[in-house]
Amino acid sequence: MKVLVAGATGMLGREVVKGLMAEGAEVRVLTRDAERAAGLGAAEIRVGDARKRTRIEGICDGVDAVFSCLGASVALRPSAGWRGYGAVDVPANLNLLDVARRAGVGRFVYVSAFVVPETIGLAYFAAHEEVARAVLAGEGGHVLRPTAFFSALTPYLDMARRGPVPIFGDGRARSNPIDDRDLAAVAVATTLRGGPREQSLGGAEVLSREEIAGLACDVVGRPRRFRRVAPWIARAGATMLRPLHPRMSQLVRFATEVSLRDLVAPQVGTRTLRDGFEEAARRRQADGRTA
Ligand SMILES: NC(=O)c1ccc[n+]([C@@H]2O[C@H](COP(=O)([O-])OP(=O)(O)OC[C@H]3O[C@@H](n4cnc5c(N)ncnc54)[C@H](OP(=O)(O)O)[C@@H]3O)[C@@H](O)[C@H]2O)c1
Repeated sequence: MKVLVAGATGMLGREVVKGLMAEGAEVRVLTRDAERAAGLGAAEIRVGDARKRTRIEGICDGVDAVFSCLGASVALRPSAGWRGYGAVDVPANLNLLDVARRAGVGRFVYVSAFVVPETIGLAYFAAHEEVARAVLAGEGGHVLRPTAFFSALTPYLDMARRGPVPIFGDGRARSNPIDDRDLAAVAVATTLRGGPREQSLGGAEVLSREEIAGLACDVVGRPRRFRRVAPWIARAGATMLRPLHPRMSQLVRFATEVSLRDLVAPQVGTRTLRDGFEEAARRRQADGRTA
């Protein structure tokens, strides 16, 4: 099978590329910067910003399936881009979907995010769900809704080293984050063989926010010390950031609200967060970073 992977250079995308190639698929990747995709080993690299329809014209020609985890970064780093999720994820994925449908691609698999009714109005989820609706409106559309990836939680290791780890609210809200590789395995299977049209996916363990922060402290060998951040302070910060940096504003609001609610998805992953943190800490040491 020939598969186009959009978002291939990201945390999840690179695992999906590996998995697809291990199953013998021929992979074409989309990136805005060819250098970022150089180490992926994909058969073809196409360069283009999917927000601009003309830059991705013909990108799906000859392709059997598209897998998209293309999205604005969820890193809490202002340099990762200022545009909000609605201004990146929505136009980029709708353009890709349109190009795929016009090329007659039979399957389109999109990664949204696990959402509960109280958070669906947040800019981050609203953008993902707008794309999900469009994907599901056509034949051959599949949507995956995962909880947080282990890769997105590794900043806890740095926070734990610096200590105390900030926690929004009382830290008791629970979730079951998922290992990127466990999620990639489902993504690969769905892309190559189909499956349920909608899947919510979580990891092996249900942990409170405080337990997640505590695990990070244990892994870097620091005492479990936390700093409670009142939700109103975080919300006020998000409001102040809105005109200055829409992405950071949306991300702070997202991080605040998801930290206050239980987000427990059906268990699919098998790996534990402790193992994920330990692996990340070892990688960082090997790279010469501290945590
Ligand atoms: N991380 C989590 O915990 C989590 C949880 C649930 C859902 N999700 C969602 O899952 C998806 C993947 O997450 P991730 O953490 O793997 O993301 P990531 O590491 O930030 O990667 C994002 C990818 O999107 C691509 N991209 C962004 N804008 C683009 C554009 N305009 N044109 C073409 N490509 C573009 C980037 O490619 P280039 O930079 O190479 O162009 C990159 O490969 C996102 O939509 C995210 O919101 C994430």
